[in-house]
Amino acid sequence: MKILVLGSGGREHAIAWRLRQSPSVSRVFVAPGNPGCAQVAECIPVSNPTPVGFLEAARQCGADLVLSGPEAPLVDGAADLFAREGIPFFGPTQAAARLEGSKIFAKQFMQRAGIPTARFAAANSLDEARAALDEFTYPVVVKADGLAAGKGVVICPSRPEAEQILEEMFAGRLVGGAGSRVVLEEYLAGEEVSFIGVSDGERIVSLEPSQDHKRIFDNDEGPNTGGMGAYSDSRILNGQQRAFIEREIMQRTIDRMREEGAPFRGFLYAGLMMTGRGPMVLEYNVRLGDPETQALLHRMEGDFGVLIRSAAEGRVDSSALRFRAQPSVCVVLAAAGYPGKPRTGDPITGIEEAERRGATVFHAGTRLDGGRLVTAGGRVLGVTHSGETLAEAIDNAYRACEAIRFEGMQFRRDIGRKGLARWRQ
Ligand code: AMP
Ligand code: GLY
Repeated sequence: MKILVLGSGGREHAIAWRLRQSPSVSRVFVAPGNPGCAQVAECIPVSNPTPVGFLEAARQCGADLVLSGPEAPLVDGAADLFAREGIPFFGPTQAAARLEGSKIFAKQFMQRAGIPTARFAAANSLDEARAALDEFTYPVVVKADGLAAGKGVVICPSRPEAEQILEEMFAGRLVGGAGSRVVLEEYLAGEEVSFIGVSDGERIVSLEPSQDHKRIFDNDEGPNTGGMGAYSDSRILNGQQRAFIEREIMQRTIDRMREEGAPFRGFLYAGLMMTGRGPMVLEYNVRLGDPETQALLHRMEGDFGVLIRSAAEGRVDSSALRFRAQPSVCVVLAAAGYPGKPRTGDPITGIEEAERRGATVFHAGTRLDGGRLVTAGGRVLGVTHSGETLAEAIDNAYRACEAIRFEGMQFRRDIGRKGLARWRQ
C-alpha cells in the first residue's frame, strides 16, 4: 500500500517514520514534507496547499490511502473531495471536522450529547459578549470560534481584561475572522491530558494518554504555543478514568455524531481537563496532536498502516495496535522569538550525535540551504526518546538535546516533570 501524508511538521515526520516501519506499507509520501520527512519518505512539493492541490499530489504519487496531519485541509473539506474523486482518505468530512473548526459547534454538540465540558455562552457580537460576561466569575476564558492556530484562547483574570480581549477579537485584530464569533467559558482548574482515538465512524480505539506542555516557559509560564513538548505514559490515567473517558466522552462523541448525520471517521483528539468533577473536554481536535504524536508513535508497535486502513474502510482493527510499556518524551527545540515571529535561517548541528545517543529527532521547522540544515519555523525539532521509567525517558531525551545547537535555541527543561511529581507522591 502506498500512503500519502499531508503536512510538513514534526507530527507528519513522526507519522511517516512509523508508517515506514509498517509491513503493510510499501511506499510513504509526504506533501509537502520537510528534510526530516525526506529521510523516511518521498516528499512531493505542493504549490497550492488546499484540498485541490493535495488531490493533485495524491494523483501524482498514485496513493492508495491519504491522511492529513493538520486540521486545515479537513476543515476545508479534503475528505469530501477525495471521496468524490474515489481516492481513499482517512479523516473526517467537513461536517464532522466542525468539532474542531467551530468552537461554538463543539460546545453546543457536547451540550446536546451530555458530554462533560465547562459551562459556556456563545456570542455573535461585542454587545452580546459583554452582556454574557455578567453570567461568569473570574478568571473567564474567551475563545475565538474559528481556527486560530492555538492563539484563539485567552484566559482573562478580570472583567476589564475580558472586555479588552473581546474588543480586540471582534475588531479582527487578534485572530482575524476566526474571532467574529466567540465562546465565553467557565475556567476549569486541573491537569490537562490529551486523549486520542482512531475511529471508523462507529467504534473508536484508544491510543495511550499523553500530556502536552503548551506554554513557552518552564512551570507553565508565558504565552501559549503550539506545544513545547509531550510525554506519554500509561499511568497518566488510572483504569477508572480511562474507562470513563472512553465511554462517556470518546464513544459518546462518535455515537452522537453518527446519530446527527455527520459520522466521524478519523483521529479524534479530546483535550481534557482532569477536574474535581471528573474529566471535562476543553476542546476537540479532528487529527493527531503535535507534539503528542511524536511521543505516542515512538511507543507504538504493530502495523500503523493496517490500523489506519482498517479504520478508513469502516472496520477498525485494534489488533494492529500495541504500545510498549516504556514511557516516551518529546522535547521541542524552538527558534528564538517563538511563539512570536521566529528567527530563521540558523544552521543546525548535532542531530547525528543526538541520534547516536538513541533519540529519534523529528523535524518540524527545518529546511536545506545549499546542503546545510537550517531553522525554518518556530518549532524546529522534536527530540524524542524513551526509557524504562519516565525519569529515565526524560534524562535520555535531555541528554540527546544537549548535543544539538542552533543560534537562539530555546526549550523547556521540565517536560514530563508533572508526571514525575505525581507518581512520587
Ligand atoms: P483550547 O484550544 O480550547 O484547548 O485551549 C487552549 C488552552 O487554553 C488549553 O490547552 C488550556 O490550557 C486552556 N484552556 C482552554 N479552556 C479552558 C478552560 N475552560 N479552563 C481553563 N483553561 C482552559
Ligand atoms: N498539541 C496540541 C495540538 O496539537 O493541538
